[in-house]
Amino acid sequence: MSKRNLSILLILAGLLILVLAACSTPAEEPQAPPPAPEQQQEEAAPAKEASSAEEAAPAEAAPELVGDSLRGGRLYDNWMEELGLDTPETLNPQWAKSSAGETSVEKSYRCVQCHGWDYNGDHGFPGILADAGKAPNEILAILKGSMNAEHDYSAYMDDQALTDLALFVSDEVFDTDTVLSLTGDAANGETVFGDNCSDCHGPQGLAINFHPDSEPEYPATIANEDPLELLGKLRFGQPGVPDMAVGLDIGLTDQEMADVIAFLKTMPEASPVTEGGRMYDNWVKALDVTAPERDMPLWATQDTNTRSGVDTWRCKECHGWDYKGADGVYATGSHATGFPGIFDAASMSTEEIVAWLDGTNNADHDFSSFFTADDMARMAAFIQEGMVEKSTYINDDKTVSGDAAHGQELYNSVCRICHGEDGTAIDFADGEEVEYVGTVAADNPWEFFNKASVGQPGEAMPAGLNLGWSLQDIADLLAFAQTLPGK
Ligand code: HEC
Ligand code: HEC
Ligand code: HEC
Ligand code: HEC
Repeated sequence: MSKRNLSILLILAGLLILVLAACSTPAEEPQAPPPAPEQQQEEAAPAKEASSAEEAAPAEAAPELVGDSLRGGRLYDNWMEELGLDTPETLNPQWAKSSAGETSVEKSYRCVQCHGWDYNGDHGFPGILADAGKAPNEILAILKGSMNAEHDYSAYMDDQALTDLALFVSDEVFDTDTVLSLTGDAANGETVFGDNCSDCHGPQGLAINFHPDSEPEYPATIANEDPLELLGKLRFGQPGVPDMAVGLDIGLTDQEMADVIAFLKTMPEASPVTEGGRMYDNWVKALDVTAPERDMPLWATQDTNTRSGVDTWRCKECHGWDYKGADGVYATGSHATGFPGIFDAASMSTEEIVAWLDGTNNADHDFSSFFTADDMARMAAFIQEGMVEKSTYINDDKTVSGDAAHGQELYNSVCRICHGEDGTAIDFADGEEVEYVGTVAADNPWEFFNKASVGQPGEAMPAGLNLGWSLQDIADLLAFAQTLPGK
């Protein structure tokens, strides 16, 4: 797909979000389902039959359900995510009959958890393959508890969502072996992936990590571990991510989906440098571990930086966003600590770096109760290969050597999806003052450079370096981001 087509698509997707936002129904107080003529007819039918027989619809003609079976596919995957609803408070009572033991509350309510990515049933629950082609009204009734009151989803979803699910079961459920038994052509899969997926996931699928960095998961991981799940995502898209390609909507064939799966199986399942880069930023968030209660022991050896708590454990808080500690941009200002930089540690071996991280060299500089051996290796990989000489791009006065016009193209191709046209769609601040992409770019360009290169710890934010961008591309992006509003 050309960049231009993609932009148009993104604009359309943006409009769609606005429309969806305008129409969406809050969870607690479901509005009367807007048109629902079917429903009214259904309820009114018996009364009509009694009063004027000739006006009544023929007894057997169920009203036709109208909706979006592909949205139904995303609801089947995770209706809470797709509808932006909170997870119910307690485990789904039907889960008691599962053969699988414990699960999370969220999973216990996902259709796919019980009926499977192959629709043959999972964890001891029945399949729904036999329901393909069934009258959507019958399926709708089952979703409202006609077979079993515990299988009544009408308290959670409005009628349109249930209708979309019924249409999905009737129209889209199929024998997944049709696709999985095909021999995929990895070379063609690379082209299809490049046209539809790599703008966000990068050419190798490594730009977005779906899991904490302690156990990374990329499209390749899913292709190898659960190709059926990947097929589901390929056909219907990702719940709650309206911009992600929907294979059935853009006309991907069964063969093309098999090709993408074959391609992804050949791709790497780890990216230690960017994973380590997110750890350097904030390893508590990146690894999704519990924050230490006390301050980092070495923190007490300085008194210029008055932060406390989890910030005192962030590598960047002591060694700086330019990795140069007291010799760099954190030599002055509220972040100044006087601690040394680690820029020269890039030449150390992995063992030498780990000796600094597991307390061997300094018992107060010990991260071994939080990092696994793999985490240590990620951190070392970033120190060896990921630390950039930022002064090549960023001047002391925070101006940037970059081409803002090119940066704008990069911004529009991916950052805009979440941060909006002018970067104000997400506010990072918890206090009174706002903090946008533009704010970070202007106030702390070194920080921006890091995040745009390796992503945001704990978020599904793409890592620019894994989108195939060069360091100059990141600088161009930064130059553009500095033109965005900061307040
Ligand atoms: C906790 C497990 C569980 C979850 C979650 C679940 N179901 Fe079911 N489903 C069942 C069971 C068990 C049955 C068999 C009837 C019964 O006892 O309710 C069933 C029956 C069905 C049937 C009818 C199958 C037949 O026998 O013809 C359909 C269709 C269906 N479910 C769709 C869905 C959809 C769509 C969702 C998501 C909104 C969903 N189910 C969520 C367990 C589950
Ligand atoms: C507009 C950006 C965008 C495009 C284009 C896109 N995705 Fe995604 N994708 C995302 C985001 C964002 C997520 C959510 C990650 C999260 O929340 O963890 C995601 C999630 C996924 C997941 C993981 C889901 C999970 O829950 O584990 C897979 C697999 C995936 N995408 C594959 C693809 C494939 C294949 C394509 C091309 C057909 C594609 N994506 C196109 C943005 C995109
Ligand atoms: C509270 C401040 C602080 C935090 C947080 C911190 N360090 Fe350090 N780090 C230091 C100090 C002080 C030294 C020098 C210690 C010494 O000489 O014994 C050091 C030394 C190092 C060295 C050796 C550098 C060299 O060239 O000899 C490396 C590598 C290192 N730290 C990496 C990290 C990483 C990675 C993290 C995050 C996981 C981290 N540090 C978190 C303060 C900190
Ligand atoms: C899939 C959605 C998504 C995309 C695409 C995305 N971001 Fe983000 N970004 C986020 C989220 C979520 C946060 C965290 C917000 C928070 O902490 O409140 C964030 C945070 C940030 C932050 C600041 C974080 C901080 O802690 O101060 C910057 C800077 C940023 N993003 C830049 C970018 C740039 C540049 C791009 C394009 C390369 C981009 N983002 C693409 C979702 C996204």
